[in-house]
Amino acid sequence: MIAAPGAGKGTQGAVIAAHFGIPHIATGDLLRDHVARDTPLGQSVQGLLDRGELVPDEVVLDMVRGAMTTSDGYVLDGIPRTMDQARALYALAVELDRTADVALHLHVDDDELVRRLLARAEVTGRSDDTEDVIRRRLRLYYEVTHPILAWYGERGILVSVDARRPAELVGRHILTALEVLDQVMSGNPDLPRRPVDLTGLGAAFGSSG
Ligand code: AP5
Repeated sequence: MIAAPGAGKGTQGAVIAAHFGIPHIATGDLLRDHVARDTPLGQSVQGLLDRGELVPDEVVLDMVRGAMTTSDGYVLDGIPRTMDQARALYALAVELDRTADVALHLHVDDDELVRRLLARAEVTGRSDDTEDVIRRRLRLYYEVTHPILAWYGERGILVSVDARRPAELVGRHILTALEVLDQVMSGNPDLPRRPVDLTGLGAAFGSSG
């Protein structure tokens, strides 16, 4: 899943993982768990998380490497975030014979992203959900993460979904798209794929937006 902070990676990643019975590997959650447990790794990354900066590539790649070997399928949330991570992850997936079938992009406009994260801050108090840090995370997303989408587009596995609607509708939309892709791909594993843009289908799912 490639999407800006607050777009719903965590929310929808959990839905997809439960539906397909596969692990949800979320790098942000794994890092925050280290911070909460005060491990050496947690101590080394806490400042970066608090400031909304990226942790070193090797740290996140090491974390997902183990998780990716435990199951035939997986939902990756929060990685890749840079083109270097995308390339390293691809090499790892080739080695494990588990390359991605779908790169899922959740599209949400910036005002809504900031609104969601500030609302979450009132409930969870996540250290990086202050307005300044949210803006920095968004800038970083557009600078180094968003450009990766073009690479997945060229590979023909990009699915872009309108994620401005209520979470339940977004989830239904994603699962419908993934189920259809799953059936098509299991019947024709060598089928050439093209990027799929579902962002204009809001009305079909009951949204006026
Ligand atoms: P990470 O945890 O990945 O944070 P993020 O990308 O900023 O994403 P969020 O968790 O804020 O949002 P989300 O898209 O998951 O949305 P969510 O479902 O939670 O990373 C945190 C930090 O870890 C990074 O800044 C970096 O320091 C480090 N890091 C992680 N991975 C790294 C990597 N690969 N390389 C280097 N550093 C890395 O939803 C957000 C809110 O909106 C929730 O309150 C939710 O209830 C609500 N919501 C969700 N969907 C909807 C909807 N449809 N309508 C209304 N509200 C909604």
